[in-house]
Order: sequence, then C-alpha cells, then structure tokens
Amino acid sequence: MQSRIQIAPSVLSADFAKLGEDLADIASADCVHYDVMDGHFVPNISFGLDILKATKRATDLPVDVHLMITNPDEMIPAFIDAGADNVTFHMEATAHANRLVQLIHAAGRKASVAINPATPVSALEEVVEDVDMVLVMTVNPGFGGQSFIESSPAKIRRLRALCESRGVHPLIEVDGGIKASTAPLVAEAGADVLVAGSAVFGRDDRAQAIAEIREAAEAATLKKA
Ligand code: DX5
Ligand code: ZN
Repeated sequence: MQSRIQIAPSVLSADFAKLGEDLADIASADCVHYDVMDGHFVPNISFGLDILKATKRATDLPVDVHLMITNPDEMIPAFIDAGADNVTFHMEATAHANRLVQLIHAAGRKASVAINPATPVSALEEVVEDVDMVLVMTVNPGFGGQSFIESSPAKIRRLRALCESRGVHPLIEVDGGIKASTAPLVAEAGADVLVAGSAVFGRDDRAQAIAEIREAAEAATLKKA
C-alpha cells in the first residue's frame, strides 16, 4: 500500500553552502518545503526567488513554497514563474484568499492556505472548498527548531470536522516541531503532510530521519484504523 503520510523536509534547516548535496540526501521524501520569510510577516529573513530556481534545478521532487510574507498578492506570480509547484500563502496576510487561489490554479499549480497558531479554524470556513491543502502551523512561524505547540492535534481535529461538514478533503499539512515523537500526535489527529526541518537536516543520515518520522506517523494511523 502506498504510504498515506507525506514527508516534506524544510530546507530552512539545510546547509546553504551545499544545498545541492542536502537536496540529494532527501530524495526519499515526498516534496521539498521552501520557507520564504520577509522580515515583516515574521521576524526573520530567509531566501527568495533565485534560491528557489536553484532548488528546482537540483531536485526532481515537487517544491512547496511556504510564503511567510506580508504581500503575497504582489509576489505570488514571481514565485510561480520561479517554479513553485505548490504555493502556500497565509490567511492572515491577505484580504483576498479566494482571488489568490484562483490565480495559482490558473497557472496550473496547487494552492494552499496556512494559519498561524492564534488563528482559529473558523477563518478557513469559506476557503476549504477551494484549496488543495491547508497548513496548520504547529509553532509560531519564523524559525526552525522550535517546540511543537501541544494544543495542535485538537486544532487539526477541528479542521477535519470543518472539511467533513463541507464534504471536501484538502490535504492537511503541519509545520513546526515535527519529529518522530510528535509525528504520531498529528498523524492520529488527521495530518497528511508532515514538514520537518531540524529533525531531518540536523541528522547525519537524512534518509533514516525521514524513514523514522514516516514510520512513527504511519504506526499511529494504523492504530486509529
Ligand atoms: C517555521 C517554518 C518551518 C520550519 C520548521 O517558521 O515555517 O517550515 O522550517 O522547522 P522545524 O521542523 O525545525 O520546526
Ligand atoms: Zn514552513
């Protein structure tokens, strides 16, 4: 049976001096998670369009661009041109989520919406029917290596209930503090895509780290079934 859980290593925790080698190390993952930070929406600056183009040249995996920026409306076309396979924008950063989803879909890419820990699931009521994926932040965005917020599984369950009430099934992604010990908590609650930065790139054997997170998550979903 094909694995239900997808693992998305975050290159924010990679060694940028040898990004190509680090991307080769994660070939067993399902996609690359690419964190864009602008120093306004979050108190940190990461990387942008040129490094995304380099990332696309160095991997065959799809790249999910997580935009932690205040002006997604202005920047999304440029990230699409640079090769984003999936564009994730924050609900808190736009008044026009529906328009952004249409714009991303018109370019033939997947569209996802993210919510911060303090943003309620109810903020997604009018978008869950339109998006391919919803990202529930399980830390306050801005930095790798933070601790998982323990109330997150309950929030994932509320999101699942909302999706079920609307009869839709966008993928549910979680991001922040995911490792082999927290993966079962989110998988059991209904997460499909697990982002992991420090838990993958902080290890010498990245393939082994990916396998451990995947196995821990899948064991929890089997227990549930
Ligand atoms: C946090 C980023 C995450 C981050 C996760 O603002 O959106 O993708 O890289 O890092 P870990 O897995 O180390 O918490
Ligand atoms: Zn992220």
